[in-house]
Amino acid sequence: MAGGSRARPRARLTGVGGYVPERVLTNAELEEMVDTSDEWIISRTGIRERHIAADDQATTDLAAEAVRDVLRRTGTDPSEIDLLVVATTTPDYVFPPCAPLVGTMTGMDSVAAYDTNAVCTGLMYGMAQATGMVESGIARKAVVVGAETLSRIIDWEDRATCVLFADGAGAVLIEADDGEPGTGVVGVELGSDGSGRNDLWVPAGGTRTPVTDDTPRADGCIQMNGREVFRFATRILVESSQRLLDEAGLTIDDVDLLVAHQANERILEHASERMGIPREKVVMNLDRVGNTSSASIPLAMADALDTGQLTPGDLVMMVGFGAGLTWGSVLVRWEPRA
Ligand code: UT7
Repeated sequence: MAGGSRARPRARLTGVGGYVPERVLTNAELEEMVDTSDEWIISRTGIRERHIAADDQATTDLAAEAVRDVLRRTGTDPSEIDLLVVATTTPDYVFPPCAPLVGTMTGMDSVAAYDTNAVCTGLMYGMAQATGMVESGIARKAVVVGAETLSRIIDWEDRATCVLFADGAGAVLIEADDGEPGTGVVGVELGSDGSGRNDLWVPAGGTRTPVTDDTPRADGCIQMNGREVFRFATRILVESSQRLLDEAGLTIDDVDLLVAHQANERILEHASERMGIPREKVVMNLDRVGNTSSASIPLAMADALDTGQLTPGDLVMMVGFGAGLTWGSVLVRWEPRA
């Protein structure tokens, strides 16, 4: 390159944070609500308890707590953030989007802020966007937060779904760094298949089928073909992460930690076995938080950090999958702020 040209910055993942509401909903309580059992839920999903938002909490309240947590952990002032992306499928309103509200709630003045919706893959899409903006010079410091109040769209009479989904928020900090290429965000793999739209969806409430006085309540809630989604999830987790490793010229042995969407312990076990990654390298916190959709991966990252499972220099494979159908993997070197 001719003198005077500037190397493009790389995107570095420097922080994670999370928040779950205080209220814990146990499997024993669910036994009182639907025809299920603690034994069934644990053996089929691995979930023991989950958190549910208070009546006066909405998605932006959860998101703001997660943002405050990542700023506090990294010693970052809100004024330093120039991009805020909220990944959610349960926004406070049709519009305005959550992100401008979260920016104001957390003291970010004039921050570029918008929402993105790729359901359980939302954080992966949000990280890809933030990486692109940081590496192109549009932003220097970006917070991507996945936040969900799924309890508001759960059919509490449907035992097939109400035992799975829950509320929470998780955030990551991505910032520009002028260091070595090949570190930071190493690669991204994203995809979708809209032919699976009815396998996991909320049938009513959008522009195709607006909610009217005659809409059955269940149609405004999550509906899922569990077996089909299970098959898709175990397949795509393996395929997406392998494509990304191939592209990066790496193998599964190079990966220190797999942080995949916390949907079901059995999905993680099947997939990790097929990938050939040992159990101790697979992060699991779903026993305590359930499936929190776009909040799931950053919450698992924050948990791994707190338990010491995530350590500086680790190569982390993050994989999301879910409604759409959508999927996405982000391979990242964990380089927290010193
Ligand atoms: O975040 C997006 C991604 N979502 C997922 O990845 C979810 C993927 N799917 C799954 O995790 C699993 O399919 C489920 C946990 C949802 C269900 O587990 P499964 O082993 O696939 O169960 P199944 O749907 O095949 O149902 C087996 C039986 C059925 O009874 P019959 O027909 O065999 O008599 C269900 O009615 O289990 C019954 N069942 C329940 N029983 C007790 C379904 N839900 C429950 C329940 N408690 N909560």
